[in-house]
Amino acid sequence: MVRWLSPVPGNRILDAGCGTAGFTQLLAEPLGDDDHVDAADTSEHLLEFNRSRFADDPIGKRIQFHEAPIQDLPFEDETFDLVWTSLALHHLADRLSGVRELVRVVTPGGRLAIREGGIGARFMPTTMELTGTGLNERLSAAMERWFASHVHFEGDAVPYPYGWTQLLRDAGMADVTARTFIHEFLPPFSDEQQQFLIGGLTRWATDESREGYLSEKDRSALKRLIDPDDTEYVFDRPDLHFIQGITIYVGQKPS
Ligand SMILES: C[S@@+](CC[C@H](N)C(=O)[O-])C[C@H]1O[C@@H](n2cnc3c(N)ncnc32)[C@H](O)[C@@H]1O
Repeated sequence: MVRWLSPVPGNRILDAGCGTAGFTQLLAEPLGDDDHVDAADTSEHLLEFNRSRFADDPIGKRIQFHEAPIQDLPFEDETFDLVWTSLALHHLADRLSGVRELVRVVTPGGRLAIREGGIGARFMPTTMELTGTGLNERLSAAMERWFASHVHFEGDAVPYPYGWTQLLRDAGMADVTARTFIHEFLPPFSDEQQQFLIGGLTRWATDESREGYLSEKDRSALKRLIDPDDTEYVFDRPDLHFIQGITIYVGQKPS
């Protein structure tokens, strides 16, 4: 995914809202040892974690972490050939001004890549008798409603009525495009994949904050699916098939 953006030695790159820096690492790998990626996040705790995680890693020498918000970046205008931001912009109360700040630090001819949106994950067969048809869709709809009510609007939201492509244009980028990468996996699932999948189902089955987003019938069915002692335990099924679409929106700053 990140390779599609073709970072090359000599590029100056920013990962804005880097989280645990998984993408930062991928962005740094193709660079040279004299290059570096700047990675910014507002979470002091995550930045501390990242600094110790990368302390003895040769790739870590190519990464500089900064405690800084997307809305007020500590960099000069036109600094970066590539600015990457993944799943952070939806936290902003004013997305357009946040994206304008990202555009400010892109060099003329450089790119801003936003990973947001995409196609929701699904992995349960539509023919599952326990849940009836349409559980994947009901989960997706529940997720979208939950996301909109809990994540979108920290502070005073400034409404913006368009999607990511138009947002990039309104922030001053040209040649805006999008590409979706399909992630797909089948049994046997690794432990990590199982934990990821069961984590999602468990939250929807048991979190009090998610009550009301799914029917009690669906929540009871999910509880059976995540119980290893139940005959309906999801990982006893041979027919699971995970699919998720991850979309990257890219714009270029006019020269
Ligand atoms: C869902 S995580 C995504 C992390 C990472 N980019 C990824 O895709 O794995 C969102 C991250 O954005 C950070 N964040 C939230 N608001 C931010 C802001 N205003 N400026 C910078 N980072 C922010 C959070 O601390 C968190 O690390």
